[in-house]
Amino acid sequence: MDHIDQTSDDLAFDDIDELISPRAEEIDFDRVVDTALSRRGFLGGVMTFGLGSFLVGTTAMTRNAGAVGQTPADRFGFAQVAANTDDTITLPEGFEWEQVVAWGDPLFTDTPAFDEATRGTAATQARAFGDNNDGMSLFTKDGRTVMAVNNEYANRKIMWGNNADGKPASSDDIEKGMMAHGVSVFEVARDDAGNWQVVLDSDLNRRITPQTDMDLTGPAAGHDLLKTAADPSGMATKGTWNNCGNGETPWGTYLTCEENFNGYFSAADEAHEVSAELKRYGVSSKDWGYGWAKVDDRFDVAQNPNEPNRAGYVVEIDPFDPTSTPKKRTALGRFKHENAAVVLAPSGHAVVYLGDDERGEFLYKFVSHGIYAASGDNSDLLENGDLFVAKFHDDMRGEWLALTPDTTGMSDAEIRVHTRQAASKVGATTMDRPEWVAVNPTKAEAYVALTNNKNRGKKPNAGGDDTSANGPNPRVKNHYGQIARWMPDNEDHAAQGFSWNLFALAGNPDVHDDAYAGSENINAGNMFNSPDGMAFDSTGFLWIQTDGKYSNEGDFAGMGNNQMLAGDTNTGEIRRFLVGPNECEVTGLCWSPDRRTMFVGIQHPGEKGNSHFPGGGTSLPRSGVFAIRRTDDGLIG
Ligand code: FEO
Ligand code: CA
Ligand code: CA
Repeated sequence: MDHIDQTSDDLAFDDIDELISPRAEEIDFDRVVDTALSRRGFLGGVMTFGLGSFLVGTTAMTRNAGAVGQTPADRFGFAQVAANTDDTITLPEGFEWEQVVAWGDPLFTDTPAFDEATRGTAATQARAFGDNNDGMSLFTKDGRTVMAVNNEYANRKIMWGNNADGKPASSDDIEKGMMAHGVSVFEVARDDAGNWQVVLDSDLNRRITPQTDMDLTGPAAGHDLLKTAADPSGMATKGTWNNCGNGETPWGTYLTCEENFNGYFSAADEAHEVSAELKRYGVSSKDWGYGWAKVDDRFDVAQNPNEPNRAGYVVEIDPFDPTSTPKKRTALGRFKHENAAVVLAPSGHAVVYLGDDERGEFLYKFVSHGIYAASGDNSDLLENGDLFVAKFHDDMRGEWLALTPDTTGMSDAEIRVHTRQAASKVGATTMDRPEWVAVNPTKAEAYVALTNNKNRGKKPNAGGDDTSANGPNPRVKNHYGQIARWMPDNEDHAAQGFSWNLFALAGNPDVHDDAYAGSENINAGNMFNSPDGMAFDSTGFLWIQTDGKYSNEGDFAGMGNNQMLAGDTNTGEIRRFLVGPNECEVTGLCWSPDRRTMFVGIQHPGEKGNSHFPGGGTSLPRSGVFAIRRTDDGLIG
């Protein structure tokens, strides 16, 4: 998510944090220039070689490539679609889409169909698909197929748009917004016409909300920082919210990642000062307009200063046991989690790559203490493990720095709660908002979407760390974003060292002729900004989803609406596959087991009031999940 309504029409979550807690401009422009000059060996090389020293695998590409409508006689299997600003989903020739589920669609027959006039109640929303779907996974077992889908946040302007002032008019309105958050788990099946449908009343259907009971597990469980009046044990908590990206484990569980958890806390006394530790995470006495503290004291940070310490985790869910208690995995650290990319090391240790999506925050890696057992019990594999943070060096090498009591001076529990502070202490590389990490299933390498960072070279991160341009984040005031990749030593994701380079620098070659034009594999035909969601398909193609500026003007002219592209990571070629409807973000991607359906999420169409997708006419815009298939029923990933 990058945009948020109500508080301001054009503010990212980070912008709201900065508005509430202004950040000192410790890096002024002169210092940026000085820094650049003093690093002539690095930036000079960039100027001479056009960033080529950091880019590999793109030699087959030129800026003239990737034209619209070319014959798909290649690995891509489709002809690129043109950028556009149409209020629909645009696909290449030979592909079609259908709606699977949208905000407010009931999961049970005891719940009425979505009602545009009322937009439902808290009770109906708690039994229906949530709002603003994001990461999602599909699981199969015993012939049944279950989807688990994150519902990141509520599009408040729309949810309460039937009220005169567009604000909640009752506690039920606030609770409706709350129930639109969390995770929707439901069985799906294809009907006689071949269309994917929710199986209403399936015994696997479940809504997980900000009020669902959860266990706190791992090194921080039971620590004083996690204890509250309602839970003096520090072992049990309620709910998950702002669930952004996701992950899935080889043992069949779903991982949902708590991102901007901070914006839901407030204090009745707006003058209340939160602790420095909470400030690092953007918690303040003013919420972003959800009003949860008005209906639940947990969210009043003056009364319950430890409650925010119980959010910001990766949560593990068993999608086939609707009675199971989700487990917050403190071992994977606490920050604004984007997704959780799981891969097994050759040794059998579970490795999880994790991004912290805020300007100048870090990229992390977890390595389990236990070993995966193909036919054994892996339910505690994410309970304990080592946590590392990435340090990228300008010589194209990098290392994972261990976060331990020795390296940080913090206890193991403190490291898992105040993870950002621990990472700052060891001197991790500040990143341009790490969004999704994707691990190539055909090769030992991983990719991270660094979506954008207008503060790069301008302002420190929330912990005061310098954010001068660095290797994988080479452009100041970076409004386009880039995709970096790393290759672990010995083809072992558990290894400490890695080599890295940049797969793509997004940019606009029609507007710029410097580094902001983008890398060689970006051209007038495929340009985009703000890569965010990413996933590999089974053939090793990298699918890239965007959450960027959709003005289609100025620096963003020619990019159109947010979109999804496919990248050939061997040649570097990137080709646009899908264009989303107006004012949406494209996020969330998974496949049916037979690889003939690709499920794609469309989040917040019409977030500024200019879409009627998917219903058309004068209908309300609604986020949803869409199934994409080849018209010849061929493979799609
Ligand atoms: Fe929810 Fe960082 O995107
Ligand atoms: Ca984003
Ligand atoms: Ca995202």
